[in-house]
Amino acid sequence: MRNLRLEKIADMVMKGVTAADIGTDHALLPVMLIEQKKCERVYACDISEGPLKSAERTVRNAGLAEQIELILSDGFANVPRDADCAVLAGMGYYTAAGILERAMERLSSFRQIIVEVNRNVKEMRQWISEHGFTITDEAVVSERGFDYIIISFNTQGHVPYTERELECGPVLIEKNSPEFRGYCVRQLTALESILAKQTRETENSRMLKHRAEIWRSVYEEAENTKTAGSK
Ligand SMILES: C[S@@+](CC[C@H](N)C(=O)[O-])C[C@H]1O[C@@H](n2cnc3c(N)ncnc32)[C@H](O)[C@@H]1O
Repeated sequence: MRNLRLEKIADMVMKGVTAADIGTDHALLPVMLIEQKKCERVYACDISEGPLKSAERTVRNAGLAEQIELILSDGFANVPRDADCAVLAGMGYYTAAGILERAMERLSSFRQIIVEVNRNVKEMRQWISEHGFTITDEAVVSERGFDYIIISFNTQGHVPYTERELECGPVLIEKNSPEFRGYCVRQLTALESILAKQTRETENSRMLKHRAEIWRSVYEEAENTKTAGSK
């Protein structure tokens, strides 16, 4: 079965980098990166022996043991210094941010860091923003009823992002793809359905209302820009 989320992450990886897939589990991404000739060498890293055993099977079956090195590592601890692209996908925001925090002194050696967290995407962008880093690319992938947001950033300096950029994604807003407009509608619908169930105004309901207003305004602007662009 295809994995559109990992395919999109592989698409976003810059050609010619040496990638470290942190939390590789089955090593599906490293195999894609080698097979698509994005990388000549990939480090498939995981904190646990179990996932690394699955990774070993995948790599062996693909005949790529020469190019994919399996590494037992908590975050970046044992990742070789020549890695210049890092991918942290399919994990929670707190795990991903913790791994990045602990590797702060070496983050500038990566040309590209790709993060895809299950939830708390806004917090992930906030973390990037608070460190003054630059978001260079973003994508939305919808698969089996779930929206995945993939963010690529580097450590070059950037002014802090605005509230709407943190909520909706600076590059997603800029690119204004059909996938993004669909995602806006789903976000807005989800927020409005929670708000419809609120019986009284609370701090939380005010916050949700504010977020819904941001999504509505970004969506309306995206629709207007699309119409203006395709006249
Ligand atoms: C849900 S899997 C995601 C697999 C793959 N990256 C993907 O996106 O499909 C998360 C993996 O992260 C690993 N992991 C969790 N914390 C980690 C850490 N501190 N360092 C390295 N790997 C970690 C887990 O062992 C698990 O295999």
